[in-house]
Amino acid sequence: MIPTIKSKLPHAGTNIFTVMSSHAAEHNAVNLGQGFPDFGMDPELTRLVGAAMADGHNQYVHMNGLPLLRQQLAEKVSYLYSNTIDPDEEITITPGGTYAIYSALTSIVQKGDEVIVFEPAFDSYIPNIEINGGIAITISLTFPDYKIDWEVVRNKVNINTRAIIINSPHNPTGTLITEDDIRELQAIVKDTGIFIISDEVYEHLVFNGREHLSVLKYPDLYERSFVCFSFGKVYHCTGWKLGYCIVRVRAISTAQKLA
Ligand SMILES: Cc1ncc(COP(=O)(O)O)c(C=O)c1O
Repeated sequence: MIPTIKSKLPHAGTNIFTVMSSHAAEHNAVNLGQGFPDFGMDPELTRLVGAAMADGHNQYVHMNGLPLLRQQLAEKVSYLYSNTIDPDEEITITPGGTYAIYSALTSIVQKGDEVIVFEPAFDSYIPNIEINGGIAITISLTFPDYKIDWEVVRNKVNINTRAIIINSPHNPTGTLITEDDIRELQAIVKDTGIFIISDEVYEHLVFNGREHLSVLKYPDLYERSFVCFSFGKVYHCTGWKLGYCIVRVRAISTAQKLA
């Protein structure tokens, strides 16, 4: 008898990025469906990585990722977001931003937990919630500005709400979270056990003098957040699948074991 596979995610189909990319290729159109740039990487980066590989830096590193890399990231966070984080305790290098998000959700979501997701959303969120037994509570961003309607969020939050996923700069709409949004979020989660998963993989893709507001800048938000980043997006090497998660909460031990 041939063994069969019973899907744990029977409703999850092909992701929208795959669908849009194949349409773009078929019609020779600009591909806005996939989050990667239409220009190359800095040749200095490929040269340095090549040299490091030729020098023999190709083996396993510490479970949380290369210590020197984590130290550099802590410096970056201190410089950009005025937050002093401990590179040994609070940073975990992951196989891409996607895995940082997966690890975060897997660390905190138990059967029946609700996680608020704003739509349109990066399409790994909902399967990652569901595979952990959670329930995705979707809220549409408001048209035409794709803003978060915090009144709707307030109405959806209840005793089962385990986390809220935010994504700024947002894929696919490009909107940014503002100081007003931060204040609303602070007020909603205050005195609750709700975690925040902050997907900030596009932190440096901000234009026209606007500022990216990282939850790392707000101590009351950071203490309950998993902040997810991607080297692929920052350095235009999405195929490398390298990212990291910054988190101070105790659940980190599970996230690190997974990464
Ligand atoms: C909003 C968002 N989060 C996370 C990711 C995944 O990042 P990575 O390629 O590093 O896994 C993407 C990739 O498209 C994205 O658009």
